[in-house]
Amino acid sequence: MNNRITSLFNIQYPVIQAGMIWASGWRLASAVSNAGGLGLLGAGSMYPDVLRYHIQQCKQATNKPFGVNIPLLYPDIDQLINIILEERVPIVFTSAGNPKTWTPVLKAAGVKVVHVVSSATFALKSEAAGVDAVVAEGFEAGGHNGREETTTMVLIPAVCEQVKLPVIAAGGIGSGKAMAAAFALGAAGVQVGSRFVATPEASSHINFKQAVVNAKEGDTMLSLKKLTPVRLIKNNFYNAIREAEDNGADATALKTLLGRARAKAGMFEGNLEEGELEIGQVSALIHDIKPAAVVLEEIWTEFRETIKRLSF
Ligand SMILES: Cc1cc2nc3c(=O)[nH]c(=O)nc-3n(C[C@H](O)[C@H](O)[C@H](O)COP(=O)(O)O)c2cc1C
Repeated sequence: MNNRITSLFNIQYPVIQAGMIWASGWRLASAVSNAGGLGLLGAGSMYPDVLRYHIQQCKQATNKPFGVNIPLLYPDIDQLINIILEERVPIVFTSAGNPKTWTPVLKAAGVKVVHVVSSATFALKSEAAGVDAVVAEGFEAGGHNGREETTTMVLIPAVCEQVKLPVIAAGGIGSGKAMAAAFALGAAGVQVGSRFVATPEASSHINFKQAVVNAKEGDTMLSLKKLTPVRLIKNNFYNAIREAEDNGADATALKTLLGRARAKAGMFEGNLEEGELEIGQVSALIHDIKPAAVVLEEIWTEFRETIKRLSF
């Protein structure tokens, strides 16, 4: 396929494997890039020297393009950006912050920049900041999410109406049928997160991968709206947060309850009750753990078949 996203990144299929803390290291990113999609390293859970290691390993594992996702709310951003520039990473996806801060620096170094948004307003701001494309991420998505609660079905056309940039759809996409729906709404690419967690290449703990496979409809909820909204699997930790919120806890009290390293405990160390388990609603449709290249191939084949089936 040749469209605005495949030519922007010089890839075969307009499918991006999302940057995900504690899940997307070099093994996952290089597997997806080698299979013809775009793999992203999730820098949000990496110290600067760890990020450099993953970039160098990824370069050895693939000669195809790959990128790095940086959530701008994390510390050490300037160090992470320096490493990206020193290592000549060609593509950066930024999220959770102001696209005006780093886009000009990255663009000046020839890096392709994409910003993740949860509303048409932020898509317009990203366009004004000079990014090359936006990811429009709906309410269904795993991980951090917008307060607007706009679903992918509404967000994609709303963003496409406002910006001229190519739009990459995210949130609830784990199959070729969902990819076809996103394209019908105006997207030129898809960013897939949760589906790639349930792969052997994801660095997440096997307990977490198994919890994703076992998750049923209604098992995830958007939580911590007073801090940074995040979609989680319901467990003891989620229930404690929920109870505190119901009792009127403010942001400071929630921060104390959250403590440190909850995400690492849940997703990387496999503590299914006391850890933070970030995953999307689409987990209800994920029934197995299989190699990233197979996931990509199945999405692509089903996408093509779906489009054929619908053209009458
Ligand atoms: C385990 C997990 C970790 C995530 N971490 C990040 C992150 O570090 N940075 C980011 O921009 N988005 C993050 N996300 C969101 C994804 O990048 C992606 O946009 C989202 O997963 C798409 O929705 P889906 O899960 O329905 O496929 C994360 C999602 C998951 C499931």
